[in-house]
Amino acid sequence: MAERFKIQGGETLKGEVSIGGAKNAVLKLLAATILVKGKTKIYNVPHLTDVDIMLNVLSDLGAKYIYDKQEKSVMVDASDITSITAKYELVSKMRASFIILGALMSRCKEAIVALPGGCAIGERRVDFHIKGLEALGAKIKIENGYVHAKASKLVGADIYLDIPSVGATENLMLAAVLAEGSTRIQNAAQEPEIVDLANFLNTIGADIIGAGTSEILINGVKAENLHSAEYTTIPDRIEAGTFMAAVVATKGKAIIKNVFPAHLTFFNDKLIKMGASIKLVEPTTIEVSCKNRLQAINFVTQPYPGFPTDLQAIAMTLLTTSNGVGIITESLYENRFMQVPDLRRMGADIHQDRNHAIVKGVKHLTGATVAASDLRAGAALVIAGLMANGETIVEKLHHIDRGYEEFEHKLTKLGAKIYRYNDAEEVKIAHEIRGSV
Ligand code: EPU
Repeated sequence: MAERFKIQGGETLKGEVSIGGAKNAVLKLLAATILVKGKTKIYNVPHLTDVDIMLNVLSDLGAKYIYDKQEKSVMVDASDITSITAKYELVSKMRASFIILGALMSRCKEAIVALPGGCAIGERRVDFHIKGLEALGAKIKIENGYVHAKASKLVGADIYLDIPSVGATENLMLAAVLAEGSTRIQNAAQEPEIVDLANFLNTIGADIIGAGTSEILINGVKAENLHSAEYTTIPDRIEAGTFMAAVVATKGKAIIKNVFPAHLTFFNDKLIKMGASIKLVEPTTIEVSCKNRLQAINFVTQPYPGFPTDLQAIAMTLLTTSNGVGIITESLYENRFMQVPDLRRMGADIHQDRNHAIVKGVKHLTGATVAASDLRAGAALVIAGLMANGETIVEKLHHIDRGYEEFEHKLTKLGAKIYRYNDAEEVKIAHEIRGSV
């Protein structure tokens, strides 16, 4: 049944919120568990629909899992892998499941994985993944919408990525773990989620050096060197940035726990330039606040450590009521300004020309009915609703549920007036905040 948020804008967010495990790290760690012929346990796993999809992918391959939502852990037993196919029904729901290609190539030397195709935010090709696997010795056929990769053995190689693609770096890192000899990935992505995957792989017995820099060296190990392990994933930097923005947007003050501030340096710097205050309380706790109207800034999205594209829509929302004119350049995706028409409907003054957006700050936004077009655009519209005068309805919540765990519960705890309801029944979330938040 279609669900919506009803948001009464104008509340100042105050209090404390704790950030969950990083979606974009956990999904890759789960795929990587199939390298171990045994059990691995991952902690700090957020409860998200994307996590459920990845677990379905693993289950289709023959792996067994126990997902303890209280403990926020997943135990995967990949002793027996009985299938090498990741079907279209799952990959088309979540592009990240394409990461299973590299993991299957490591474990089985053969994989049949549906091609993900484009999505709302851009074309999102996988040519670097394919070329990299070919460089490692895989023969690849693309038939009936599936990538069929096969190799009698994988052999280490030097691979240069034209763009520091997160997914390609991860897929190739996974594929190279058990290859003969060493693989060097140059112009590798440097995101914290890449480091987390490398740390996890090293914990189970891989030999990876340089993750977090532009050159990653993977020294192939023998399958018998890989072993069971337990691992805790990093906090979600994009969720942290989203809550920081929500607090700043409502001129609030909040403590944000379980955050690695070093993962958000560029974003924090921009928030401070806009007039926010960010104080380090403890190594993984920050205090965010803002008293005055924000000042407009310009920014360009870039691969890590640059300004994260996943926070672009959210930062645009902050600019809509800032003092002055801000210019945004989206350099990673062709189509990541999907939030613009809805922000305009709320009164924002935004001029868009291809991958540039000029945002002229208005005095205030006004509530309207809007719809999430993708995960981050959806979060941006929720923040716009918190800022706006009057009532905002946000539709298509399934996009938001992919990547924000208990989003409205956490916001409610900070003082937001946000309710989830469906066509049959309005559910007043404010009256059922769960103890876990
Ligand atoms: N690209 C190619 N060919 C390839 C691979 C990528 O042309 O073979 C292009 C893409 O089309 C895109 C750019 O390179 O324009 C960057 O894509 P990348 O491969 O780095 O992104 P991804 O691995 O598909 C991950 C995150 C995204 C995040 C990007 C960039 C996951 C599951 N997804 O995607 O997160 O935007 O990195 O940081 O890790 C989100 O969480 O909302 C989200 C979209």
